[in-house]
Amino acid sequence: MNPDLPMITIRNLKLDARTEHGPAHILRGIDLEFGRGRIVGVVGESGSGKSTLVSCLLRLLPSNIERLEGEILFDGIDLLKLSPSDMNDWRGRKIAMVFQDPMTALNPLFTINTHLRDVLKRRFPQISAREARERSLAMLTKVGISDASVRLDAYPHQLSGGMRQRIVIAMALLVEPDLLLADEPTTALDATVEAQIVDLFDQLRQDFSGSIVFISHHLGLVAELCDDLCVMYGGTIVETGPVAEVLARPRHPYTRALLDCEIEDDHGGRLATIPGEVPSATWAMDACIFASRCAHVADICRRGPTVLETVAIGHKAACKRSREVLP
Ligand SMILES: Nc1ncnc2c1ncn2[C@@H]1O[C@H](COP(=O)(O)OP(=O)(O)O)[C@@H](O)[C@H]1O
Ligand SMILES: [Mg+2]
Repeated sequence: MNPDLPMITIRNLKLDARTEHGPAHILRGIDLEFGRGRIVGVVGESGSGKSTLVSCLLRLLPSNIERLEGEILFDGIDLLKLSPSDMNDWRGRKIAMVFQDPMTALNPLFTINTHLRDVLKRRFPQISAREARERSLAMLTKVGISDASVRLDAYPHQLSGGMRQRIVIAMALLVEPDLLLADEPTTALDATVEAQIVDLFDQLRQDFSGSIVFISHHLGLVAELCDDLCVMYGGTIVETGPVAEVLARPRHPYTRALLDCEIEDDHGGRLATIPGEVPSATWAMDACIFASRCAHVADICRRGPTVLETVAIGHKAACKRSREVLP
């Protein structure tokens, strides 16, 4: 393994699904790479393809797929070419997932101890019951659960939503994955608990050597936590780069509009939205995907799709008018 190579390289990933209205272009050619130890924030409105992108990384794909093209290289190995059993093994050892609703990952019939022990047994088949319990206790404490030994014997419904999400994060970390995928892990929680979970992710990075892909529709949250930002719109990445740089100097009108919404939210307490409609996945991309909602749209934007272009070191945006309208 060459440490200079990115851990994950996604190249021209396209996913179409069959629908009664014709093919839905859910991912329209995703290019993304990141190295070890990074927290990559993926933001975008609902329907932009964020969850589908992480499903591809796990290769847990919908059954109505019509076309899947491109490459997902993980340390140089194309996940899309692994056999189902190799992929299963990869999922259990190298990639772990935290969903929006912790109950997706928790079985109401089993105690927290059973959940954690099963994860450890699958990952480390030789582990003794005693060691599994010790590691579980240590991990619960690490994810901020007080009275860990009492909680270990609790059932999921006896815990609060925030605590359940901490348990799911503990399960993911016990796998010692290289890649942790978190799909809107705080969306189902209230604002105070949300802030605590974000703090937890921030603390965890101290001794987690893997990378995290953190999906959110909340730009402010990503700004706090992440190193890199990836803005998705209509199944494409419209802007990507180091978080501080992208937020200080957005070069795509959609990122700019998202930022303006958050600023309005903070000041007016009203949920600001970008005027216009999110593009349907069945649209053919014969123009800039954002053209129908863009305040800066011009003829050139309607002449063929846009592609990501470098606008600064490590910073790319897919806007033909970027230099003109967001210099
Ligand atoms: N299996 C599927 N068949 C048809 N359309 C789908 C399927 N899965 C997702 N979609 C559509 O693809 C778009 C992206 O979905 P998703 O990845 O869930 O977005 P996000 O997580 O950003 O909200 C949405 O318009 C959704 O309705
Ligand atoms: Mg989603």
